[in-house]
Amino acid sequence: MTTTFFCEYKPGLEGIPAAKSSISHVDGQKGILEYRGINIEELTKKGSFLETAYLLIWDRLPTKEELKQFETNILYHRRIKYRIRDMMKCFPETGHPMDALQTSAAALGLFYSRRALDDPEYIRKAVVRLLAKIPTMVAAFHQMRKGNDPIQPNDELDYAANFLYMLTERKPDPLAARIFDVCLTLHAEHTINASTFSAMVTASTLTDPYAVIASAVGTLAGPLHGGANEEVLLMLEEIGSIENVRPYVEKCIANKQKIMGFGHRVYKVKDPRATILQDLVKQLFGETGQDPYYDIAVELERVVEENFGHKGIYPNVDFYSGLVYRKLGIPDDLFTPIFAIARVAGWLAHWKEQLAVNRIFRPTQVYTGVHNAPYIPIEER
Ligand code: ACO
Repeated sequence: MTTTFFCEYKPGLEGIPAAKSSISHVDGQKGILEYRGINIEELTKKGSFLETAYLLIWDRLPTKEELKQFETNILYHRRIKYRIRDMMKCFPETGHPMDALQTSAAALGLFYSRRALDDPEYIRKAVVRLLAKIPTMVAAFHQMRKGNDPIQPNDELDYAANFLYMLTERKPDPLAARIFDVCLTLHAEHTINASTFSAMVTASTLTDPYAVIASAVGTLAGPLHGGANEEVLLMLEEIGSIENVRPYVEKCIANKQKIMGFGHRVYKVKDPRATILQDLVKQLFGETGQDPYYDIAVELERVVEENFGHKGIYPNVDFYSGLVYRKLGIPDDLFTPIFAIARVAGWLAHWKEQLAVNRIFRPTQVYTGVHNAPYIPIEER
């Protein structure tokens, strides 16, 4: 029997549209990223992360009252049940925070198990619970792996400031909190990448939203997706000084080794998120003192552009984000969980969009195996 395929097989589905979406748009030639049509630069300058989450999920900017209500609802749901905390206490302290997050996110489904996907109130509550509890779970695991009790959310602090507080037990200064809020906005959504696609496939089975988010977290955890910003910091440490930048790049060229934090499948110019993050680094370091790694990073960008600009290799979102996070006192292995905290907004937006037009994902395959193979009795193998 011959099977008809409607398009050419593309490894990694490169260039194959898997959905129609109005959530975000990337123009890789012009270096533009829009959420619901609004330019990311404008959103980071004028909006907040929760306002952005509302925009992504409900397809419009909230009114003042709607935003206030949304923030209050999230504040109210920040705490996690003691049973979830006790479960997390049993996790090995050497475990990766992304594994802890995936397990805890899935566990939420045990506690909020009613599945009423056609009920807008159920959808609203699930959105609020997930946005509210994911940061608490990341911070709780971080405290517990150090042998501490989790730090309770602080009702005086907004979303970003509260997360930094739960990590350090210190109220962050307003600039640090604002910069962290911008980082969350920058990572909130980026069309159909691997983790978002994973969320959509899981959503298409009409399972609960906690399973959807747990599935996306598991996908984000892989080194080909989240995590390049940790590598950037290791690379800057290895380079060590401005004088070593050029020899380092020459060594990478000679060894055909990728330079971390550069290049992107879609952007062929500087990633607009990298430009915004670089600006944040300058603001942050201006307030708290210079950082030698920032100077190395700027020189590296210059030398990489000189050598790879003609190929469209420029800094991506990961190049400057690690520098920001480290300056905010965040441990390196929490960079990817922070990516997840932000991306929950985008995943939930795609979950909602998928439900509205749902058809279960069931792609086809190109079978490369044999037919009519004999069953060989075990004694004869
Ligand atoms: N350093 C040096 N050369 C590079 C780099 C880089 N960082 N990125 C791409 N190139 C070169 C490749 O060697 C290749 O050159 P060739 O055509 O002469 O063989 C060409 O540019 C195309 O590279 P591909 O790997 O085919 O590009 P692809 O679109 O598949 O990969 C990716 C994009 C994975 C981001 C790649 O640029 C990379 O590995 N960068 C470093 C890791 C990184 O920073 N990842 C974070 C990405 S942002 C995110 O995921 C949130």
